Amino acid sequence: MKKVTAKAPVNIALIKYWGKKNIEDIVPYNASISISLDNLYTITTLEESRTGFEFHLDGKLVTGTESDKVYDFLKYFSDETKISNLKVNSTNYVPTAAGLASSASGFAALSVAANSYFETNYDFKELAKITRKGSGSACRSLLGNIVAWETNGDVYNIASPIKDFVMISVLIDKSKKNISSRQAMALSAENSPLYREYVVESAKDFIEMKKAIELGDYEKIGKLTKKSSLMMHGIMLSTHPPILYMDKTSIFIYNLMEELSKQGIYANPTMDAGPNVKILTREKDYKKVIDSLESNGFMDYYISRLGEGAKLIEE
Ligand code: PMV
Repeated sequence: MKKVTAKAPVNIALIKYWGKKNIEDIVPYNASISISLDNLYTITTLEESRTGFEFHLDGKLVTGTESDKVYDFLKYFSDETKISNLKVNSTNYVPTAAGLASSASGFAALSVAANSYFETNYDFKELAKITRKGSGSACRSLLGNIVAWETNGDVYNIASPIKDFVMISVLIDKSKKNISSRQAMALSAENSPLYREYVVESAKDFIEMKKAIELGDYEKIGKLTKKSSLMMHGIMLSTHPPILYMDKTSIFIYNLMEELSKQGIYANPTMDAGPNVKILTREKDYKKVIDSLESNGFMDYYISRLGEGAKLIEE
């Protein structure tokens, strides 16, 4: 029986994406830059099912809207007769929907697996276009290392001399978020009075960040990483009704990292649609960051390095 398995990394944005210019095609208002992580990922297997379409997530059968979303997404690859005889088995090696971007790795793995299973053989550009329909940021998980996603839809690697990035993801809350990023960013684009300025400023930051990455300018990269995350959360706060993903622990960690930075330690926090804080640091400094986290009671964290992009694997 036919069976295809794909693996895709979690990606964490250094320049954030928040808002869609085109909701149908998932075209972002602002270009973003992310890094793909080596040890946080999704593995998805597609195989024939004798009992109709089934979507299993982390070993459990999922029904309802979540399963419908996967079913509908697969229509980009095949007709319904084939999809209705498919079993999708997806395992997240990361807490689902806790702001660690498991939907990005999930849709990237699903895309790569489906492209092979249904023999559609879409080229990279076409696959990226489809993948972002599952989740915008998922198209960045198709590639490894440092990835850009532009407002025209292009997804590509940014070449960099940097090889020693370490990303520490501090788990503050593993529960699911109460508003999806898709709904939240639509609200922000619709009614935040600061949204236009945010788009203009982010466009500048994207260009600056790209240059800094190409040059290996760690300081600039760190500053822009912090700035972009705080600007995005500022936009969330200025949305009506306000969107508040961070909590007091997230803010505490931001302040803690500020203290480390003052001591010359490379420690740049960022945060997505959830309270967990991710810290961009370097091989030479990450143990100092961990010491500081642990001495403040944060024992639950992942240490990641730059990882590979989505690919088919043997199981
Ligand atoms: O791809 P989505 O719809 O899950 O958007 C997530 C956007 C952020 O994670 C909050 C920021 C980013 O660029 O990854």
